[in-house]
Amino acid sequence: MASLWPLEGKDLSGGVGTVAESVLNIYLNGGATTFSAHVGADDCKRDSKRTSVEFFVIGDGKQLWRSGVMHANDAAKAFEVSVAGVNQLLLKVGDADDGNNDDFADWADAKFETTIAKTFKTGGEPVAAPVAPYILTPAAPPTPRINGANVFGVRPGSPFLFTIPATGDRPMEFSAANLPSGLILDKRTGQISGTLQSKGEFVVTLGARNSLGSAEKQFRIVCGDTIALTPPMGWNSWNCFAHMVSADKVKSAADAMVRSGLINHGWTYINIDDFWENHIPTSEKDVQDLVKPFRDEKGFIVSNARFPDMKGLADYVHDRGLKIGLYSSPGPTTCGGCAGSWMHEAQDAQTYAKWGFDYLKYDWCSYGDVTSGIIANPLNVPVRKNSKNDDFAIYPYKVMGGFLRDQNRDIVFSLCQYGGNDVWKWGGAVHGTCWRTTGDVNDSWRSIKEIGFYQDKAAPYAKPGNWTDPDMLIVGWVGWGRPHPTSLTTDEQYTHISLWCMLAAPLLIGCDMTKLDDFTLNLLANDEVLAVDQDELGKQATCAIKVSEIGNRIADLRVYEKELADGGRAVAFFNLGTEQVNFEFNDFTKLNLSGKKAVRDLWRQQNIATLNTAKDSLPLPIPGHGVLLYKFTTTK
Ligand code: GAL
Repeated sequence: MASLWPLEGKDLSGGVGTVAESVLNIYLNGGATTFSAHVGADDCKRDSKRTSVEFFVIGDGKQLWRSGVMHANDAAKAFEVSVAGVNQLLLKVGDADDGNNDDFADWADAKFETTIAKTFKTGGEPVAAPVAPYILTPAAPPTPRINGANVFGVRPGSPFLFTIPATGDRPMEFSAANLPSGLILDKRTGQISGTLQSKGEFVVTLGARNSLGSAEKQFRIVCGDTIALTPPMGWNSWNCFAHMVSADKVKSAADAMVRSGLINHGWTYINIDDFWENHIPTSEKDVQDLVKPFRDEKGFIVSNARFPDMKGLADYVHDRGLKIGLYSSPGPTTCGGCAGSWMHEAQDAQTYAKWGFDYLKYDWCSYGDVTSGIIANPLNVPVRKNSKNDDFAIYPYKVMGGFLRDQNRDIVFSLCQYGGNDVWKWGGAVHGTCWRTTGDVNDSWRSIKEIGFYQDKAAPYAKPGNWTDPDMLIVGWVGWGRPHPTSLTTDEQYTHISLWCMLAAPLLIGCDMTKLDDFTLNLLANDEVLAVDQDELGKQATCAIKVSEIGNRIADLRVYEKELADGGRAVAFFNLGTEQVNFEFNDFTKLNLSGKKAVRDLWRQQNIATLNTAKDSLPLPIPGHGVLLYKFTTTK
């Protein structure tokens, strides 16, 4: 905070320059009394007609001050607000809902007053979790309810593991009528295991009973070529631990998946991202202990000292009814500088299967050095300059996809190459289960908006077994090695989860599972919302309507629509503006809705209206950066 910012012609020292949309997350931990600053558009865009920014000061989820929209050449605004008792202070700059062209914005001459001598942290751990303003998901009833997908894919000969996800008081006894031969059920845990030898489709009646009642559900097991018939759901270590991941942290995540009850809503995978492998020589202190040979004398990959027993770890996770994943790159090194699979692909696929892994995220990283000819290419694999098409980009995924398929194990294949070469068009052909379509997500509104609302291009290619991946979830405690509560607001988090479910995205929780709070659990344990993601038709929602004006006011609403297997339609009304809108909606034909419909609010799990779509309208109070997620079903 020492640089000079040329705000409004004056040099005001002590501040931060940003570009909308941005958020500074400051942990005051109750140690300050007032915060004051001057704000305004930066002078570097003097006279620009495109500059329009708005400043917000938010303390523990409550708006303390906002500037109103400011343009280039506007006089700086000074303010002082009380921050007494505030733990987490967010300084946000919005783009005034018109995109961020020339939106350079300054917090200048910024000061905190304190009564006690204290150093504030702009990272690290605050003493209190952020305020969790409102919980919408009703608590699951104590009587049994079977949740999760209605269908499960497995290949002949692969080990079968499926845990019946059921909420309700324990002890609970499970049943599975018409289970095909080769599979057995553990009545106490609800885990179904075994192997199916040949292809076929089996309809099983799952049951759950406790002292208060019982529940049943029809469940389809499809033994064939395709796995992940609904998007994978689980956890991944990267967004919280990054290079600080260890086997103990992975075990804790698995334990928390069970203890928190999330396993009862269908959450399954426990995925280790980068840094289970050894690392190249480096001066970085944090990973010095990982600087060891990548492979044994026969060329098989070895895990690093923080992961002393990969097979034991996989067993630990499986014993809890969960599945386990890991990470590699087709290049010689991963994005974090650890061992990649280059020229060892077959051995790596065998090793993953031998250890018992169920999921591989395969990240392009240093493979760019192969395709650009920087490193030796003794196998003569396709390189960019000789390629008239996308072969050079497809090739490494085809190689690993083939080797994974050769294993007697179902391994989800997650392609991570940030959406290059229209991956959605060929990901399925290389046996990919899902494919990232963009760069990395982070816990900012800008990231959610720029990733989440730009997925339509990939939608025609999403289907059971093939999913568009807009990257992992960023609710809860996230922070890439220095976890902090997510910087997203309450409504931004509802938007994030609703949108990812509408997109039929893989759902990988990215937070520290040992720090799940009630609000985050409410986001992750709403079975009606998750059912939109897990719908067996496997459609990815697209944007059906954009609204840019309501009355005479500028607005930015996006309405997404998704066809569901039961004939209903999920519709998400997103408000990308910062202000709540109250909108009378009647454009039902654009959502392919006609006749009489019952409308259910999925977050609240309540029926809210019955409409004649030909003449009625639906009032929509949508919070700023928030969402209403509804399901429309035909009714009489
Ligand atoms: C990035 C990838 C992240 C994470 C990281 C590991 O390329 O997008 O999700 O896997 O590498 O180093």
